[in-house]
Amino acid sequence: MLPGPTNVPNRVMNAMLAPIINHRSEDFRTLYKSIIEKTQKLFQTESDIVLLSASGTGAVEASVVNLIKKGDKVVIPVNGEFSTRLADLIDSWGGQSIRIESQFGENPPYEKFEQAFDEHNDIKALYAVYNETSTGTTIRYMDKLGDLCTRKGCFFVADSVSILGGDELPTDKWNVDICITASQKAIAAPPGVSPISISQKAKKYIQDNTSPILYFNLKRYFKYYQEHFETPFTPALPLCYAYSEALDMILEEGLDRRIERHRQCADAFYTGLGSMGLSPFAKPDARSNLVIAVNYLPGIEDKKFRDILSNEFKVLVAGGFGNLKGKVFRIGSMGEVNKYHVMRTLSSVESALRMLGVEVPTDSINKAMEKFR
Ligand SMILES: Cc1ncc(COP(=O)(O)O)c(C=O)c1O
Repeated sequence: MLPGPTNVPNRVMNAMLAPIINHRSEDFRTLYKSIIEKTQKLFQTESDIVLLSASGTGAVEASVVNLIKKGDKVVIPVNGEFSTRLADLIDSWGGQSIRIESQFGENPPYEKFEQAFDEHNDIKALYAVYNETSTGTTIRYMDKLGDLCTRKGCFFVADSVSILGGDELPTDKWNVDICITASQKAIAAPPGVSPISISQKAKKYIQDNTSPILYFNLKRYFKYYQEHFETPFTPALPLCYAYSEALDMILEEGLDRRIERHRQCADAFYTGLGSMGLSPFAKPDARSNLVIAVNYLPGIEDKKFRDILSNEFKVLVAGGFGNLKGKVFRIGSMGEVNKYHVMRTLSSVESALRMLGVEVPTDSINKAMEKFR
């Protein structure tokens, strides 16, 4: 129950047993073309897709080093570890981040973005971490941010690493120019490949303004795909097989049904935990359906609690990052998550709390279970 990597179905694991093929062969071209087409369905986009052999950070970095030039102004909401990291990366690459800060667990009001655009002209891009994994918050006005960027003629980039495949993200409809995710979260594949979509507008800019980089040089990826349906460098083949299988499973389930399953599981988590007396870290209008961050009750020690969960009940949850270390625990409710995982996790949390001397109301589990009826 980690917020990544998540459980990988056997069908996806087994796909990696296929022989290693020549990545300059028709076999690979057929595979890669089908991966790209299926990824476009997952992203709900007609844009170009690149599959990077890297974890999510590589894809996030690719979005910065291909698009941002020295002195470029970039608006970015900052309210957690991953948004801070991204803003720091933009600055260290030579961009100028214009940070819209808010308390961790909250999103800034949308009006702050309008204000930032009023105060600064020539903003090059707006970067947003759609789901801040460190705090369990989701930005619920991504569509409005996309509209704003279109009106202002700037690029809109979404770090969707811990959400794509588990919540709404119609890339084209929301005008996302560069959308980034990774294989090991809601897609439920092993870690190591990261798909990224690039709009026509962003592609043209990147092609006309080459970046002095090699491995993440998107221009090369466009060229190789256009000319050969190949990648410029040796792809992580077994991960491509696994990712392709995971995409098949997602499309078989149907995106809408998958999103609804995540919503239902999150609802059961928030209900069950709430009736145990535990409060979510995130404010109600910012709560994630994929990362459930929970405040510890006073006197409960992080390590002890998570050791009980893992050693006694074989349930792994994550701790907090930075300032939140020891203050919250985080449940990944993503990928293959279903009623079984939710109910087993809730029962284990309840038992662990009792073992640590907390009196827990007896109807918490039933209340969560009702969400599945
Ligand atoms: C929102 C977000 N962005 C970026 C990353 C970095 O991804 P990775 O650990 O795959 O490099 C993560 C990882 O958890 C994340 O949650």
